[in-house]
Amino acid sequence: MHDLFAMSEVAEPELAKRARKPRTDAARPIHISGYDRNVRDFYATPDWVTEALLRHVQFRGRVWEPCCGTGAITTVLRRHGYDVTSTDIADHGFGTPGVDFLSCQAVPDDCRALITNPPYGDSGSHKGQEKSSVAMLHFVDHAMRLTGSVQGQLALLVRFQWVAGKRAAALMSVGPFAAVIALTRRITWFDKGTDTNVAQHHHAWVVFDHAHPVGHPPALLFAD
Ligand SMILES: C[S@@+](CC[C@H](N)C(=O)[O-])C[C@H]1O[C@@H](n2cnc3c(N)ncnc32)[C@H](O)[C@@H]1O
Repeated sequence: MHDLFAMSEVAEPELAKRARKPRTDAARPIHISGYDRNVRDFYATPDWVTEALLRHVQFRGRVWEPCCGTGAITTVLRRHGYDVTSTDIADHGFGTPGVDFLSCQAVPDDCRALITNPPYGDSGSHKGQEKSSVAMLHFVDHAMRLTGSVQGQLALLVRFQWVAGKRAAALMSVGPFAAVIALTRRITWFDKGTDTNVAQHHHAWVVFDHAHPVGHPPALLFAD
């Protein structure tokens, strides 16, 4: 691994533990795409999705894209005048590879905001879905702690439905939850011509701001 930032093994974060409760419902996967999940969950975010975020939120200072993939989000951010530090655990030919976000113990120098489309979606099976939602909670908790250390901002692209999950809701309720930007248009992740799946999920940007006034409810905004 690249040692760009101080790294160490990270125990399950406290907030994620608090938010984690045994599931009692007989949930089943609602979406089986028929496509294998890409290596390390790589999917490029279409430009309009990042544009939708930037229409509603202004970020302070330099941005860190810690799961940059091929640079889809970074490229739009730069077009809007932001300075961006781009890293990824894998080498997708963009940014600095070999940086495991979950092992980073600080944000890169000067960064005050973290924006990404994190790697965890469900894998189509109940077991995989369970595993990925816990992994996602871990990711969000870690991102919240890192951005908290610089009084920063955090924007994550998630499935809209994820926001309403009990554990996610518990985690977000104890954080500086500033806004949810619901995308009224569905994201098409793969263009496979006439075989392209009609997307079944709506997505949203969840935005945390450590300067958000305490007790102020998050804004619910819509974008397409
Ligand atoms: C859904 S893709 C998003 C790529 C890019 N952010 C975008 O929106 O186009 C998730 C990315 O997370 C990276 N990734 C997965 N686990 C990671 C980790 N622990 N630390 C850093 N990057 C990770 C993958 O290599 C992949 O590029």
